[in-house]
Amino acid sequence: MSEELLKQNIARAQMATMQNKDQAARGKMRQHYHFMAQSGWLNDPNGLIYFRGKYHFFFQCNPYGGFWDCMYWGHAVSEDMLHWEYLPFALAPSDPYDDYPKGGCFSGSAIEHEGKLFLMYTGTSHHGKGIVQTQCIAYSEDGIYFKKYPGNPVITAPEGIAEDYFRDPKVWRQKDVYYMVCGASRNRHGMALLYKSKDMLHWDFVNVLAESRGEWGMMWECPDLFPLGDKYVLTFSPMGSGDHTSVYMVGDFDEKTGKFDYSISREIDWGFDYYAPQSFLAPDGRRIMVSWSNEWEWMPLWKDWGPTYKEGWCGCFNIPREVRMRKDHTLQFIPVQEVENLRENAVRKEEIVVEEKEMELTAGDGVCYELKFMIDLTKTDARQLELVLRCGERKKTAVVFDFAGGELYVDRSNADGWSRGSSRSVLFLKGKNELDVHILSDQSSLELFTDSYQNNHSNNIFALDKQNKLYVRACGGRAVFRKLEAYGLKNCFGTDTSELD
Ligand code: FRU
Repeated sequence: MSEELLKQNIARAQMATMQNKDQAARGKMRQHYHFMAQSGWLNDPNGLIYFRGKYHFFFQCNPYGGFWDCMYWGHAVSEDMLHWEYLPFALAPSDPYDDYPKGGCFSGSAIEHEGKLFLMYTGTSHHGKGIVQTQCIAYSEDGIYFKKYPGNPVITAPEGIAEDYFRDPKVWRQKDVYYMVCGASRNRHGMALLYKSKDMLHWDFVNVLAESRGEWGMMWECPDLFPLGDKYVLTFSPMGSGDHTSVYMVGDFDEKTGKFDYSISREIDWGFDYYAPQSFLAPDGRRIMVSWSNEWEWMPLWKDWGPTYKEGWCGCFNIPREVRMRKDHTLQFIPVQEVENLRENAVRKEEIVVEEKEMELTAGDGVCYELKFMIDLTKTDARQLELVLRCGERKKTAVVFDFAGGELYVDRSNADGWSRGSSRSVLFLKGKNELDVHILSDQSSLELFTDSYQNNHSNNIFALDKQNKLYVRACGGRAVFRKLEAYGLKNCFGTDTSELD
């Protein structure tokens, strides 16, 4: 019976998508190369996996409108993480453990087991005694149509863990053991719990992998643990930890005790719009990280989710990033090299001297483009360098490199008549001779990478096509750019690849 209901709910969601996708496809604010749902609301990336020759991205979504509501899992496949074929919804609420109308099928992950594609997700229910979150399994022979495991839920909250803060399982395999880490809260302190299993169906609690003592908030959403180099990396999005949206920790993992001990904790991204990252391995061994380009209403600097609901959609993913570790064990987050295949209309300049007078730069159509350059710090004596992006209609977004004050900020308070506030980070240049800058601009977002991809800002900007000018100026001196490269970036959604079954 519940299998029947699952099919019905998926079919109904497909119908809604068929009806609404043209409106979203025509949207003036829709992205050109960042992943989006065909229509409706999207939040966290789920179940990221390379399976049978394709990248599979699943995603939290509400097929019925541009706001968060009862959660389904959307599904799309790609060969390059940029051009997508949408598949039928993978999961829909259908069972007593995942049928809460303000809950449903929450975030989780994917893994291949015995040749099948397994999903582990959080079922959210409410049967009169409060919200209950449990971990559940679904599997598929063909990687398209999923069945829920009749023995669901496979894990319920352990003693002392709040039942409404127990979610987002991330599964991986190490030798012949499956491990799973999920987010939890105990006594209003966030934590990651570790489980293990031999068969993906029977799970044993191992330990509290890592926890907040107050400094990292009251709940860790979407934790992820993965090996990199000779270390392990733990990432999560903490609730109730000020402006932090997504953090990473580098340390060591002891499988025997199930404990993670970290010596480095840093921000993955300082922008307003980088949440719930999940990582996976590409077939060539790259560790790729994908996240939701937005934030929640409980975050201190949140405004709302933007005006795109008027076009029948809301939410996109940040550009997938390759995670690399440096010698000192800090991490770099580099846009995947596949983006280079979208380049067109190259402009290259060996050197540019930027002075107080505003200078115009050209990059693609000024809306969807890539811009890269190095700032030669040995020849730069300006107090500040200002990059003015998506300028027009008396609006602009300013990226300010405040050399004198040691800060970097992206000011979007006059970006689009909607956004506000500045994202800020420390610009630490001591001992450096040059500073690399890399910008990815899409119709409704700006991603800035600098300082060896360690100082990143992702921000949504809802500017239309007339905001297409790009200026640069130095304050209190000059700035010297080297190796400037600018490109337009092709639209990946130009031809409709959205054939639904
Ligand atoms: C993170 C999150 C997860 C949850 C999902 C619900 O953004 O709140 O903890 O599973 O979104 O859509």
